[in-house]
Amino acid sequence: MTVEATTSSERTSQNIRDAHDNAALAAAIRKLAKARQAILLAHNYTRSEVQDVADFVGDSLELSRKAAACQAPVIVFCGVRFMAETAKILSPDSIVLHPRPDAGCPMADMATPEAVADYRRAHPGVLTVAYVNTTAATKTEVDICCTSGNAEKLVSGLPADREVIFLPDQNLGANTAAKLGRKLNLWPGCCPTHNRILPKHIEAARAAHPGAQVLVHPECLPAVVELADQALSTGGMLKYVHAADAKEFIIGTESGLLHRLRLENPDKVFYPLKPDVCCPNMKKITLEDVLTSLCNMAPTVELDPDTIRRARTPIDRMLAIG
Ligand code: 13P
Ligand code: SF4
Repeated sequence: MTVEATTSSERTSQNIRDAHDNAALAAAIRKLAKARQAILLAHNYTRSEVQDVADFVGDSLELSRKAAACQAPVIVFCGVRFMAETAKILSPDSIVLHPRPDAGCPMADMATPEAVADYRRAHPGVLTVAYVNTTAATKTEVDICCTSGNAEKLVSGLPADREVIFLPDQNLGANTAAKLGRKLNLWPGCCPTHNRILPKHIEAARAAHPGAQVLVHPECLPAVVELADQALSTGGMLKYVHAADAKEFIIGTESGLLHRLRLENPDKVFYPLKPDVCCPNMKKITLEDVLTSLCNMAPTVELDPDTIRRARTPIDRMLAIG
């Protein structure tokens, strides 16, 4: 037996063991979730096995809508911390479990509430549009939130004569401004994962898979968005692929989305734009973490009532628009 064959058969056995363990863990999670009347929400970038056990998997906007409509006494939120905070803001009477409180979004931490308050003082009258990838504390300092799924719609509805600061993602801000032909002031923040996708990666992927459509996330650099066929939120990519006649797609976003794309479109082929587009924080929550948090009913997301009240206003404005 060659070394390569041994390695591959070892990998297969490990995969079978993992699948067995995952099936047992998933069954235990489902049983306990039922007993606790808990709903499991997961973002499209989480581990495949976490997506598979969830009641609902979606993008930031879809998850916000789900949390707002949710009547469940317990929400287990699988995603990064700002998303779990958003669920708590929109469903304050529910217990919101976030199995890994250390799973943060580095971009969300690039706009502190103090810095946003300073900016507003220095720019009286400025309208503050915050990507939902911001902490609850920062949301208390802004006028309106948006996601990558509704940024264009939302910014296009703002009064044309007002100065606007878009934070914290300068790429989403610049891509939205370019699409609408409107000037936006840009906060110096970005997603470290999407920012690593470069135009040369699109060129290489197109050369390797001629004819495949290139879909990228609007958190990518404007030069990357310019070369792509579409720039869409993760939910937008899923809808686009479902409706498209094309059969091959190059996917320029976090690798976790490939799981749903492949599961829901078995007749289509998906190539990662670059093999290592991974958000380490989105991958932190494991099935063991979900089970442990349901057993212990901890860690919970705790926000003081004043933060919930003030952070809710910009989120409600966003949900009212789209
Ligand atoms: P979506 O809203 O497109 O799912 O994006 C969230 C996110 O964090 C992208 O990095
Ligand atoms: Fe934040 Fe980027 Fe991870 Fe999304 S992919 S959660 S923006 S670090």
